[in-house]
Formats: sequence, C-alpha cells, structure tokens
Amino acid sequence: MPRLVVVSNRVPVPSPKGSTATAGGLAVALEAALKSHGGLWFGWSGKTSGDREIEWLEIRDFGNVTYAVADLNRRDVDEYYAGFANRALWPLCHYRLDLTDFSRKDMAGYFRVNRSFARLLAPLLRPDDLIWVHDYHLIPLAAELRHMGVKNRIGYFHHIPWPPADVLSTLPVHDTIMRGLAAYDLVGLQTDYDVENFAGCMVREGFGRALGGNWYESYGHRFQVGAFPIGIDTDIFVQMAEEGLKNPIAKRTKESLNDRDLVIGVDRLDYSKGIGQRIEAFSRFIEMSPSAKGHVTFLQITPKSRSEVPEYADMQKEIAELTGRVNGQLGDVDWVPIRYVNKTVSRAALAGLYRIARAGLVTPLRDGMNLVAKEFVAAQDPNDPGVLVLSRFAGAAREMDGALIVNPYDTEATANAIGRAISMPVEARRERYNSMMPKLREHDVAAWCRSYLDVLSQATEPQSEGLRA
Ligand code: F6P
Repeated sequence: MPRLVVVSNRVPVPSPKGSTATAGGLAVALEAALKSHGGLWFGWSGKTSGDREIEWLEIRDFGNVTYAVADLNRRDVDEYYAGFANRALWPLCHYRLDLTDFSRKDMAGYFRVNRSFARLLAPLLRPDDLIWVHDYHLIPLAAELRHMGVKNRIGYFHHIPWPPADVLSTLPVHDTIMRGLAAYDLVGLQTDYDVENFAGCMVREGFGRALGGNWYESYGHRFQVGAFPIGIDTDIFVQMAEEGLKNPIAKRTKESLNDRDLVIGVDRLDYSKGIGQRIEAFSRFIEMSPSAKGHVTFLQITPKSRSEVPEYADMQKEIAELTGRVNGQLGDVDWVPIRYVNKTVSRAALAGLYRIARAGLVTPLRDGMNLVAKEFVAAQDPNDPGVLVLSRFAGAAREMDGALIVNPYDTEATANAIGRAISMPVEARRERYNSMMPKLREHDVAAWCRSYLDVLSQATEPQSEGLRA
C-alpha cells in the first residue's frame, strides 16, 4: 500500500499528547486514512510570522503520521489566503461575481506560495507516494510539483462548488487555473452538477477534450474527473448526539427555552451561507404565524471567519444589525425571537443542540456540500426527530430527499417551510428521517475517503507526456 500524502491549506496538527479532540469529521477521516497507509500531512501552520520567507518546515511525528507545516509571512497571507483564494476564487466558485475582486498582485502571491509549498514538499516525497491535495487554495500545486520532476499520482479535491463556464471565464487567469487542474491525475468534485460545470469549462472553453468515461485530456495530460460527495463521521456523531443532552451548553439551552420550540442554524460567518436571508425568512414566519410569537426561538450560531477579508467584516456588521432590528421589532419583554451567538461552539455541544431542535435551517445561497445538514439529521432522536429545511443550492440537497427543500432567495416560501417543519406530525418526521439515515451511514466520510483513494490509486489509463516531463 503506498504512503498517503495529504496537502491542505490548514493542517490540524495534534496536541503534544497526540490528540485531535477538536478536529471535525474531515480531519478525523483524513487522519484515519493517513494512519492506515502511513502518511504525511503537509500545509500551512495557520501562523503568520513577520516578514520571513517560507523556507523552513516544522516537522513532527505522531505514530506513523508525520505533520509538516510552514508559517506564512504577512504578505503571503494577504495575497495568497485573504487575497486570491478568498477574494477571487471563493466568491467566483460561489457565483458571487459582484464580490469577486481580482488583483494581479494577489494572483502573483497565490502562485508564489504554491511554488514555495511545492519546493518544500518535493524533497519529502517518496516515488510511490499517493498525493491528495485539498481545496481551492492549492490548485497550482500539482503543476509546480510536475515542473520539479514529481511523477507520483496526484489527486485534487474541490470542497466548494465548481461554477459554470460563463462564471469561471470572468476570472482573467481562468486558463491558468484550468491548466493547473489538468496536471492532476484525478479532480474530485462534490456533485454531478459540479462535474457537468467542470466539463463545460474544460471542453466548451477549448482547454481539453473528453475521452469518454470520466477521462479528459488537456495540455498533453490525461486525467479523471468525478463526483465524490463528502460524508460525515455518522456513527460518531450519532453517539455524540445521544450523549448530547448531558452537555452543559445543550442542557442550559434546553432549560432556558422553557418549552419553546428551538429552530437552529449553524454556519461560519460567510456570505455564501444565506444567513441574512434566513433571518428575514424566520422573521416573516413569526409575522405570519401569531401562534409562534413567544413560542419559537431561533438560535443562530455563527463563529467569525476570515475577518481580514473586507466583505466578511462588512457582513459581520450587517447580520448583527439585522438581528437587532428583528429582535427589536418582534421581540417582547419575556421573549427574544433570535439568539445570535458569534462564537465557536464545540462539536459535542452542537450535537446536543441539534438533538433538542425542532427544525434545522441550512439555507446557503450556494454550497459545495454542507456538512451541517448531514450532522443535523444524524443528531436527531429517531423516535422524535426534528426536520431539516435545506437550500436547493447546497450539494447536500442532491442526496437528502427527506429534507424540506427551499429556495433561500424566496423569503415567503422559506418562511412557510419553517412553519411546516415546526408543525409536522411525528410520523411524517420519522419517515423523512428514516429516508436519509441509511444513506448517511453508508456514505460516511470514511467511505468517501476510500472511494476517492481507490480511483486515484487504480487509474489505469496510459499517461501521455507533457506536464509529466
Ligand atoms: O469549505 C472550504 C473550506 O476551505 C474548508 O476546507 C475549511 O474548513 C473552511 O472552508 C474554512 O475556511 P478557512 O480556513 O478560511 O477558515
């Protein structure tokens, strides 16, 4: 079995005792895959260190897994992470051309950091390593490694949506991005819809041709493209939720509700998540349903995110103001319709909170998959489950047929769905829950890891020269 090398922008380096207790499902699954293959996890340490160029790595071993992380300097973080990755690629992939800020300086920083990462990673590689790169921050990495003579199998997984050709082509360097992806052996996307979009970008824009099956040829290299919908660590999350009511935060929340129904939303503070539209919809629901006034509480948990990016800082202000306005207009002396919490809550507490909620609102304007949708369902009590209200624009909507699917841009319809979720009889709720749980168990994050790595390691199509030379 080849050694596995995972590359991601952030690396969850275990604490000195070897524990990754706070890590999410993806980190846990990747760590498990690394342990079973023996492995190396490489990426940014998450630290910004002065003006120092990226030229050294901190390397630590935990069992048979090595963690190798590099600090970035201020300029690198500004241009590579906050700039090109999060002000150009992120909004573009989320169809937000209005927010896409393309700067040549940031683009240069993005390619510079990827080149530095490749320079640091290449000497750590062994000839038969299987390399798996994650996320839009690192698209050019394989091409950089190829230029350095690396011939290993290299796969890329795009965790966020892939946009249609007309959206992608607004990016001045979209050809370089497509060329970068063509240097991989497998490009993994979340859904069939993303694959269709990707094929459109490749073929319609003339960057490559489809060879049949999942194979494409572009810039002299043959590679596969496929949909690998990511899952959660279902069994562990179910267990966490079963114990969730003992969690002090969940306990306190339940007590504080005084038998009111709880509706919950959990998202990073990001404009792609549709938090403002959701608050409007909840407020509309309260206006439309006099019986809900005073009897339903909406808890929105929104840890701050990417605050160094101006669009995120603006949003922080907007959502806080909107929440204040709705609470002021609709609230009463003994009831606040929206509890807005701007901090990180542990996974154990979230599992408990999901379990006591009557409805979960997962209404992004665009999302690659959305694991909160899956975790909300997994956390439910099978005898008395809550209902998921899910945006049709989340990748998860393509699998989760037991959710109430909504268009988050339609305030009225989303408000109606909240009402339906809260008043749904228990038999109907159970039916919906039972239609989703077997799939959540079967397609969990470990299965996702396995299916991706099987395709990456077993690709048999002969490779042409070109980028490999
Ligand atoms: O969904 C894409 C993603 O990059 C995840 O991999 C990551 O966990 C999340 O966004 C948070 O992003 P950031 O590292 O910018 O806080």
